[in-house]
Amino acid sequence: MPDGITLQKGTTVTGTVIVTGGGGVIGRAICARLAGSGYTPVAADLEAAVPESASSFEHDFVVMDVTSTESIRAAVAAVVREDETIAGVVNCAGILRDSFVGELDEAKLDLMFQVNIAGMARVVEATADLIRVGGSIVNVGSLTGHFGRFTGASVYGATKAGIAAYTRYLAAELAPRGIRVNNVAPGVIRAPMSPSMARVSGGEEASAAHAMLKRIGEPHEVAEVVEFFVSPRSSFVTGQTLLVDGGVVAW
Ligand SMILES: NC(=O)c1ccc[n+]([C@@H]2O[C@H](COP(=O)([O-])OP(=O)(O)OC[C@H]3O[C@@H](n4cnc5c(N)ncnc54)[C@H](O)[C@@H]3O)[C@@H](O)[C@H]2O)c1
Repeated sequence: MPDGITLQKGTTVTGTVIVTGGGGVIGRAICARLAGSGYTPVAADLEAAVPESASSFEHDFVVMDVTSTESIRAAVAAVVREDETIAGVVNCAGILRDSFVGELDEAKLDLMFQVNIAGMARVVEATADLIRVGGSIVNVGSLTGHFGRFTGASVYGATKAGIAAYTRYLAAELAPRGIRVNNVAPGVIRAPMSPSMARVSGGEEASAAHAMLKRIGEPHEVAEVVEFFVSPRSSFVTGQTLLVDGGVVAW
């Protein structure tokens, strides 16, 4: 484990951070950024995310399906030894499926709520007691929870808006334990677009046009903000949603 970075007297940045969806594009960037600050990130992701990652992945990886409490508990037990605490959790696992009116698909509907919302709550349930005092939970929401210009993203947007509320309630509940909870809501970020994402966003050029900065974001720009919320540099910030969207919602 790397030596800690002391930010102020008695505050040392080290420890394990479990990053769900850590095999994905933004999840990997988050793992890399956390490792750069002295944390030990553990990417927790579906088995399907392993083969693609295996050769190039620099961080610890554990198989976790956030739709299954059993899978989450097994993964956490494999990562955290008895009597150990962790520095935090980043809930980054998420999926987008289009949900145009007239085409609503029950399986897509269920999966988005199971992964994006219920998955987050299951992971928190399994890890909250392990997070040390001064530790942090960071949820990854989305721009789509805060605006309405992506037609076909209504259900995904609803799950991501739900994350903002979930974050506030969880922050209040965990504050007495010394754990902060915040929500980073990315705008459109450079990643291979799934067919659903391309359908709802209209592609990279159309997405960039919504932003004040007239571009889409890079994964490391999200990771930077996530790392800030994990770290004690944000020690008086909890219950917040911060949009990392190039100025879409503010415009
Ligand atoms: N890429 C964007 O433009 C964008 C914008 C706003 C928000 N987001 C959010 O950021 C997060 C990461 O997105 P990304 O662009 O890196 O996508 P991605 O598909 O590369 O990463 C998502 C990861 O979540 C994992 N995952 C899916 N279902 C899971 C499950 N049941 N259990 C565990 N892991 C599971 C996937 O295997 C994948 O590795 C998601 O929550 C997404 O909703 C992305």
